[in-house]
Amino acid sequence: MKHILVTGGAGFIGSHTCVELLQNDYSVIIVDNFINSSPEVLDSIHRITKKDFAFYQCDLLDEDNLSRVFQEHSIDAIIHFAGLKAVGESVRQPIRYYFNNVSGTLNLLRQMEQHGVNRLVFSSSATVYGENNPIPYREDMPTGQTTNPYGTTKAMIEQILQDQCKCNSQWGVMLLRYFNPIGAHPSGLIGENPNGIPNNLMPYITQVATGKLPYLNVFGNDYSTSDGTGVRDYIHVCDLARGHVKAVESLFDEGGTKIYNLGTGRGSSVLEVVKTFEQQSGVPIPYQFAPRRAGDLAEYYADASKAERELNWQAEYSLADMCRDSWNFIQKQTPNTTGE
Ligand code: WQD
Repeated sequence: MKHILVTGGAGFIGSHTCVELLQNDYSVIIVDNFINSSPEVLDSIHRITKKDFAFYQCDLLDEDNLSRVFQEHSIDAIIHFAGLKAVGESVRQPIRYYFNNVSGTLNLLRQMEQHGVNRLVFSSSATVYGENNPIPYREDMPTGQTTNPYGTTKAMIEQILQDQCKCNSQWGVMLLRYFNPIGAHPSGLIGENPNGIPNNLMPYITQVATGKLPYLNVFGNDYSTSDGTGVRDYIHVCDLARGHVKAVESLFDEGGTKIYNLGTGRGSSVLEVVKTFEQQSGVPIPYQFAPRRAGDLAEYYADASKAERELNWQAEYSLADMCRDSWNFIQKQTPNTTGE
């Protein structure tokens, strides 16, 4: 049985990945500082899987504390999710973002070196493709033209990991570039429920659906897309979680860096998401058109064929499934609201 350390394992994608790992008989050690998650998520992971796992409340910036985890467990591989992830906040707090994401990762890598761990899967993002690549995005396209500090931390960490693999052939790293993860576990026990007013589309829609927010602002209706609104490659978080298990399975085959897009290969417009959500929930989502959001691109989606070819992974859930599961989760969080 392989022992997998999951940093940020209580977060949105981390928690779904822990469920998938446990259901595939991996032993899981979660490290999380709960900065953007809560201890209840751990109970939910246990309720879904009926499996035990180790947990450490630990910030990656606290290297002494982190070193305890490596001392107490024989770790075969790491899936590294932990990091700050709000694009707008990263523009306002660049030092905090660079320090947290990059230094946190460097501490983790130093501990890996000290304890002879040399396999890692990194939670990267389609944001590393920046502004200048044609769509669909392919893994061999140039990266780094990022438009905000959050995205730049992802590009920097990708570079650090590639440099490490170049200098030490014993290391094996996978960079997984996610597109737009939405949805939730079908049990409704884990999902995404950000504090405050959400930045991302699906959490915003679900808050409109529950009556917490009055209407959705659709940022831009004059893009050169099918209906004028922005197009993204939305992917169900459970598909993403399964992609991580596939990545871990082939992580031990050989060393070096491998890069994979995790997307569906299909773009959906904002209005398509709104319409599909309304169909799945039966709740109307009032919206109004607002100016374009600074930094947004008109349209992007993945070429997801490499992961299919090499990892034998393909997204299975539809946009309707994603909307249904997001709605199911949020209803379980906020009982007695519209649609109950
Ligand atoms: C999707 C579409 C918006 C909110 C971001 C990060 C990326 C990744 C995922 C994560 C766009 C439109 C949104 C709203 C709207 N990172 N929209 N009204 O910007 O594609 O990607 O999240 O950790 O790195 O950049 O996702 O969900 O914010 O936006 O019209 O209230 O929905 O303009 O077209 P984005 P998003």
